[in-house]
Amino acid sequence: MKCALVTGGSRGIGRAICVKLAQMGYHVIVNYVSNEGEAIKTLQLIEEASSTGELLKFDVSDNAAVVAALEGWQEAHKDEFIEVLVNNAGIRKDNLLLWMEEDDWDKVMGIGMKGFYNVTRPLLQKMLVKKCGRIVNMASVSGLSGIAGQCNYSAAKGGMIAATKALAQEVARKKVTVNAVAPGFIRTDMVDGLNEQELTKTIPLNRFGEPEEVAELVGFLVSDKAGYITGQCISINGGLYS
Ligand SMILES: NC(=O)c1ccc[n+]([C@@H]2O[C@H](COP(=O)([O-])OP(=O)(O)OC[C@H]3O[C@@H](n4cnc5c(N)ncnc54)[C@H](OP(=O)(O)O)[C@@H]3O)[C@@H](O)[C@H]2O)c1
Repeated sequence: MKCALVTGGSRGIGRAICVKLAQMGYHVIVNYVSNEGEAIKTLQLIEEASSTGELLKFDVSDNAAVVAALEGWQEAHKDEFIEVLVNNAGIRKDNLLLWMEEDDWDKVMGIGMKGFYNVTRPLLQKMLVKKCGRIVNMASVSGLSGIAGQCNYSAAKGGMIAATKALAQEVARKKVTVNAVAPGFIRTDMVDGLNEQELTKTIPLNRFGEPEEVAELVGFLVSDKAGYITGQCISINGGLYS
């Protein structure tokens, strides 16, 4: 059984990635933090794609909870190992830095940056021993260009891109690849409330992207065909300058 873990797999981009990985034949572990109903819907879509999956609830920003959940999974699946990790969970809490509450800084960094550490570290050793692994980190255009009103989110995503490049160099000899994907505006719950009409005018391709389009890119990066791509951050943003 080929196993893949997608953090934040219950909705949006994460859900589309779960479905794509299911279509590629992976057993998909769907992480979520609170929205069990949506996570169950993702699981149904995985089964409709003729694959198998399971739910694994944990808060990626809580190191003890992540380690306990991953150790519990390994205990229950002694002969399996997670060969694909998609660090997708993320939130935004936008404000000008002048008005930004400390808690909004900490939450966005905790999920975006610390979450990368918490989930990746426990899974790395097996990938290195097996000389097989794919890690894809969900960054953002915000982490490349910086976006006013998103100092916390830009910092989390920019940090994630830098960590991607560093880790890729650490593990390349063991045939583990690490890449980041930087979407622009993708139609999910996260962009609810944004002025789509106005923002669309700034996008050369003149529309928001769809989660399935991001999932196709992630599917390629985890495939054998992408074996020579590592340490990269690949934009998928309709032509936004980043
Ligand atoms: N949409 C965009 O335009 C866009 C653009 C660039 C980058 N991104 C990035 O793409 C990723 C997915 O975004 P999205 O638009 O699909 O977001 P979304 O629709 O808001 O979904 C967020 C997902 O993250 C999960 N999540 C949130 N906090 C978590 C935590 N502490 N622990 C575990 N899971 C957690 C949610 O789980 P629950 O369902 O349980 O809440 C949900 O599955 C994020 O990293 C985001 O920053 C999105």
